[in-house]
Amino acid sequence: MADRVVLAYSGSLGTAVAIGWLRDVTGKDVVALTVDVGQGGEDTGVLRQRALDCGAVDSVVIDAKDEFADDHLVPALKANALYQKRYPLVSALSRPLIAKHLALTAKQLGADTVAHGCTGVGNDQVRFEAAVAAVAPELTSVAPVRDLALTPEQAVAYATEHGLPVGQPDGPDTIDQNLWGRAVETAPLEDPWTAPAEDLYALTQDPTVPRDADEVTITFEQGVPVAIDGQRFSALRIVQELNALAGKHGVGRVDVVEDRLVGIKSREVYEAPAAVALITAHEELENLTLERDVLRYKRRVEAEWADLVYDGLWFSGLKRSLDAFVDHTQLHVTGDVRLQLHGGRAVVTGRRSSQSLYDYELATNDTADQSQAKGFVDIWSRPSRIAARRDRAN
Ligand code: ARG
Repeated sequence: MADRVVLAYSGSLGTAVAIGWLRDVTGKDVVALTVDVGQGGEDTGVLRQRALDCGAVDSVVIDAKDEFADDHLVPALKANALYQKRYPLVSALSRPLIAKHLALTAKQLGADTVAHGCTGVGNDQVRFEAAVAAVAPELTSVAPVRDLALTPEQAVAYATEHGLPVGQPDGPDTIDQNLWGRAVETAPLEDPWTAPAEDLYALTQDPTVPRDADEVTITFEQGVPVAIDGQRFSALRIVQELNALAGKHGVGRVDVVEDRLVGIKSREVYEAPAAVALITAHEELENLTLERDVLRYKRRVEAEWADLVYDGLWFSGLKRSLDAFVDHTQLHVTGDVRLQLHGGRAVVTGRRSSQSLYDYELATNDTADQSQAKGFVDIWSRPSRIAARRDRAN
């Protein structure tokens, strides 16, 4: 039915108002779709009822937590993905999955339009629409909050005027949360000099409070985390467990000035305990099991991968090709890493692997064969020597 629109609905003021607005302005029936990627917050029953009360003809909830962990977080971990070396791409990883379900649901219901509640100043609008374009190019995307330039005050006014029971208006904070972490935007943080207040954090404890360290061993098989302290779990469960364990020690707080795709520098505060602990461990296992040139080249590919995903190009050809490269590098990334969690940091204290390239005989000075070193060093230095002679002659 081309007279339907499927809206990515989080339950926020903006998306609740969007239901009424889309119905009134487009004359189409609105289906609200909530994709559960571990955002927590309000009960999905409450969310559904609010969508129906706001005029949605149906409200659908999809539990995509395992899919998010297996198909988005694991690839991000294999790529040690950190945008601008710091941000674990929390929101950037969830948008393509939500958009995919949005597009698939629209196709299933015969809708020709999808909608999202993003504003016009962030990256998420780009990620939603670029992903929808790649999954179902025939669909049209609309963004009521952006296209009406709706402020929270105007949204409340619209809701009151049209009798929409939108629930509690959101505070001044914009928060996005999923299994991989939490992004917080509040008015005070807009001054990059202002320190984040302690009560802004929800997944991490204050790392300056003295407490005993914890130790945890993470097992990887071909780059995929499969066990904690010898106990096998799904990727989803491992992420959940590590959020709790590492969060207790304040691991994964990230306070940065970040370059948005839309040309704005913004101050961002994140907390991503499991992401930071897992990336720290995985990277070290790669140090043990990958050849130097693969490692060096992969670190460059990782930066490219993070940029692509940040920029909303999850479903692009280049991203798929980089995934193929990254996957191939993971063939031998199997083994254990021991982390110490303490004072806001996850520190590697041990690593071992049946695929290790570490050679004890070679690494210990006294037993290694040194007889070939002189010739190697002489030839290695040859270009420098020749160039230096030339430079001196000039
Ligand atoms: N700056 C981050 C990003 O672009 C976080 C965005 C958070 N989104 C939100 N709607 N609060 O990925």
